[in-house]
Amino acid sequence: MPSKRYTLTAALPYTNGPIHIGHLAGVYVPADIYARYQRLQGHDVAFICGSDEHGVAISMRAKKEGVSPKEIIDKYHHVIKKSFEEFGISFDNYSRTSAKIHHETASDFFKKLYDQNDFIEEVTEQLYDQEADQFLADRFVTGTCPVCGHTEAYGDQCENCGSSLNATDLIDPKSTITGAVPSLKKTKHWFLPLDRYEGFLKEWILKGHKSDWKPNVYGQCKSWIDDGLKPRAVTRDLDWGIPVPVKDAQGKVLYVWFDAPIGYISSTKEWAEREGTDWEPYWKDQNTELYHFIGKDNIVFHCIIFPSMLKAHGDYILPKNVPANEFLNLEGNKLSTSKNWAVWLHEYLVDFPDMQDVLRYTLTANAPETKDNDFTWKDFQARNNNELVAIFGNFVNRVAVLTHKYYEGSIPEPSTYTSSDEAALRALQSYPKTIADSLGRFRFREAGQELMNLARLGNKYLADEEPWKLIKTDPERTKTVMFVALQIASALAVLSEPFLPFTSNKLKSILNHTALGSAPTWDTIATSAMLLPSNHTINKAELLFRKIEDEEIAAQLAKLEATKKSNEQEMTTNITPQKETITYDDFSKLDLRVGTILEAEKMPKADKLIVMKVDTGLDTRTIVSGIAEHFSPEELVGKQVTVLVNLAARKLRGVESQGMILLAEDADGRLIFVNPDDATANGSQIS
Ligand code: MF3
Ligand code: ZN
Repeated sequence: MPSKRYTLTAALPYTNGPIHIGHLAGVYVPADIYARYQRLQGHDVAFICGSDEHGVAISMRAKKEGVSPKEIIDKYHHVIKKSFEEFGISFDNYSRTSAKIHHETASDFFKKLYDQNDFIEEVTEQLYDQEADQFLADRFVTGTCPVCGHTEAYGDQCENCGSSLNATDLIDPKSTITGAVPSLKKTKHWFLPLDRYEGFLKEWILKGHKSDWKPNVYGQCKSWIDDGLKPRAVTRDLDWGIPVPVKDAQGKVLYVWFDAPIGYISSTKEWAEREGTDWEPYWKDQNTELYHFIGKDNIVFHCIIFPSMLKAHGDYILPKNVPANEFLNLEGNKLSTSKNWAVWLHEYLVDFPDMQDVLRYTLTANAPETKDNDFTWKDFQARNNNELVAIFGNFVNRVAVLTHKYYEGSIPEPSTYTSSDEAALRALQSYPKTIADSLGRFRFREAGQELMNLARLGNKYLADEEPWKLIKTDPERTKTVMFVALQIASALAVLSEPFLPFTSNKLKSILNHTALGSAPTWDTIATSAMLLPSNHTINKAELLFRKIEDEEIAAQLAKLEATKKSNEQEMTTNITPQKETITYDDFSKLDLRVGTILEAEKMPKADKLIVMKVDTGLDTRTIVSGIAEHFSPEELVGKQVTVLVNLAARKLRGVESQGMILLAEDADGRLIFVNPDDATANGSQIS
């Protein structure tokens, strides 16, 4: 097979905290498996990543810790980089977006589009926090998602439904800095008119990638395109980021999602400079295959916005695939940095030193490829004890120990093969293709299980042939059996490399692969029945895995239980502080009435929204509310409620909502209707 060029990118993590198992499972382990696999095929691979150091996520963390953004990024850049190294994530380059080369690359990119008139320049009203004296965008503002009704959507995105949003789309926006309700203030920005790329995106994604992109990725793209694309601001009024490189742009920086993906390009440049090679083929040669490894919350940015930028720029290739994963949960709950509901990589290594491969294996076996998945410590223990220890480790250990016991480590000469030997060798030869096929389709779980099946094959072969008994009655036959078993072990050493790089190295050193004239490769396994020749001497056995005891799992669960307790305690003491004082006039503007819910039904394809018909005494009107997770439509019908009737109408998923129903929310997030004690005439005013 001729060598191909691959540019593989893994989402640049925000340096606003350390990384946890969710990051590893969703992005970095699959990306690393793929990169290592392609390198083993002899391809030319640039596996690119770096720290995402701009954006509001960083400023917010800095505010919270009372330090400068620079201190935050320096701290976490190193923590994250170290975790990746420790877990064997084999980036060819790990850069950072604060690097000079990145600032230049991103500025030049912006300028080129600016000069080509690819932007719309517009003065619009943006959310503004008077108290903080700052414009609010992205994560500085939360509110209700106009698409799904999720109440904690961010100003750039809803993490519940994945929609990409503008801050001004949010319903009931609130500043995350001061808690204040923002006002609107005029400011000038540059917009990328995504609507101009609709034709291109339809052709490229909807026609071109219907069958080869994952259904979740394709589906999200399709729904954005179908909903109609709108111009999107690519600049912000912030003091942290890359200054907008044009005239009259004081105090403005590039939107983080404009600069960050360009970070893939600048990181490639940095790498190429170091390697003394040319970066351009990796981004501009039509024969290069570009793949972005990301989590599902990044789909719109990598499939719609960044490709539109690349297209506008003109010189660049587009991704061939964007194999985005769903999310990993931990013991039934969403992973959360702020709630400390996570397994942090640096903490894992303290409790399980040198056991990186166990986590890599477990996260692959349980990867959230097609749906959200749950990480549980029990499953982790079972995968380790029942698969890595009992199958893989056990097989390898028996082979190595017996080879030393019977032959002083020197591989024996086989004689005639029986049909079971031949079957084992034939099966062995089929694994490179089986695993490659799964990896080629980004099915990492399946690929990891196939690898374990090869170990299973070896284990079963030994159990069937029982060389430990045979040695007493038929030493010649024993030689053949051990020879075959050693070939399986050798194949495991090679094929495990992408998944279990540390184990693979250990196993290669036990089998003394380096002393071979030509060590087995992915390709030779498929064609040769002799990977380790007779008379080759192997090294002493060494345990590859160790059993994990129940107490160790109990300790991890206890740690999580403690986190849960302290979160609950915080919740009950966590009463939102009183808002700023208003005048009587402010209050009297609200027209609150008693109303009755006449009909209620769930909004199709929106998890949280309920569409209701409400009799307000004045009229019967439609109100859409994000309460579907709290109430069933049946229990709503007939209920008397308090309605804010003079709220400006808004469209939610295409349905116009004409008012708002009042609800109390307690510290646990439970919703309770605000309703009159006794039956009251609809239309009665509340004042
Ligand atoms: N920092 C982003 C996140 O963690 C990902 C950025 S990916 C890039 O969600 F393409 F922008 F680099
Ligand atoms: Zn949403």
